[in-house]
Amino acid sequence: MKALSVVPLQAGSAALMDVEEPPASDGPILVETLAVGICGTDIEILSGAYGWSPPGRERLVLGHESLGRVLEAPLGGPVAVGDLVVGIVRRPDPVPCASCEVMEWDFCRNGQYTERGIKEHDGYLSERYRITPDFVVKVDPQLGILGVLLEPTSVVSKAWEEVDRVGGRAHWAPRTVLVTGAGPIGLLAALLGVQRGLEVHVLDRMSEGAKPDLVRALGATYHSGLIGDIGFNPDVIIECTGVSTVILDAMTNIGVGGVMCLTGVSSGGHEINFDEGALNRSMVLENVAVVGSVNANRRHYESAALALAAADRDWLSRLVTRRVPLEAWADALTRHDDDVKVVIEVKPDVSAAS
Ligand code: BGC
Repeated sequence: MKALSVVPLQAGSAALMDVEEPPASDGPILVETLAVGICGTDIEILSGAYGWSPPGRERLVLGHESLGRVLEAPLGGPVAVGDLVVGIVRRPDPVPCASCEVMEWDFCRNGQYTERGIKEHDGYLSERYRITPDFVVKVDPQLGILGVLLEPTSVVSKAWEEVDRVGGRAHWAPRTVLVTGAGPIGLLAALLGVQRGLEVHVLDRMSEGAKPDLVRALGATYHSGLIGDIGFNPDVIIECTGVSTVILDAMTNIGVGGVMCLTGVSSGGHEINFDEGALNRSMVLENVAVVGSVNANRRHYESAALALAAADRDWLSRLVTRRVPLEAWADALTRHDDDVKVVIEVKPDVSAAS
């Protein structure tokens, strides 16, 4: 079968190759891959800046935002032949640490977790893969190819859970949320904010195009420019850019008792001057909380599956701005100006909407 793989930390090493069928030891569920979404992490791996191959191997199969159809599954299990499914990205560390032991691998304490398509475990960008029942999640068949949005939605579902839990340290009745960054993660974070009944604002650099249109179509407000100019101090900020100037701008403009969740991974190496004392003073005097969030556990995938099933399908389909066949993978990995979510269609047999 065909698989798209890279030599981690080696730019330009991506290649579509013939590989062995997935070994039975990977699990009793055989899945045929239909589509795989591309995100910033994949681009980082392709550029040679991130990623680890499985022990003893040179190459890593890419792909962590998957959608597939079950070809074989044990009777009476959580998924059946024909189901549309998504594979969970992270696997608990083998020790296991206290968090992995209770299936909260997203909070792994010792860093020995693995991640499909990212860290020491082949990803889903192959024509077929095998998996165990604990790591596969069913998606609403009505979603069709839009089920490929489940993994990024699981990431924001976890971020919102963190916001709620940190906010719940005291009386918590948030009214406004600002999402910084209108990429797929930002737009999905905004969708979840709207589903919670909050007044949602999204800020991005672009002043026109697909992103402002998508934000307005959600019933949210779009801003470009500085956070200090939006006219209010948000109760919640979900930061999805990883850009240090935006992060500081957000931290200094959050509302009293506000919770800010960081989801964007910065590249590092950019130093800026700012007044740490003033920031500390306002965070302390205003009970501001800033929390980081990465990955997602099964609970977050399940709540994300419900959120996607409840979302407007036309809006979701507008997030997938390009669908590229597997053979043209190189095109999928090259950024176009108006890209939101680019998807590689490994087997194009699902329709974009019901
Ligand atoms: C993935 C997460 C993963 C993180 C760090 C993100 O792109 O969505 O599942 O934990 O990268 O590797």
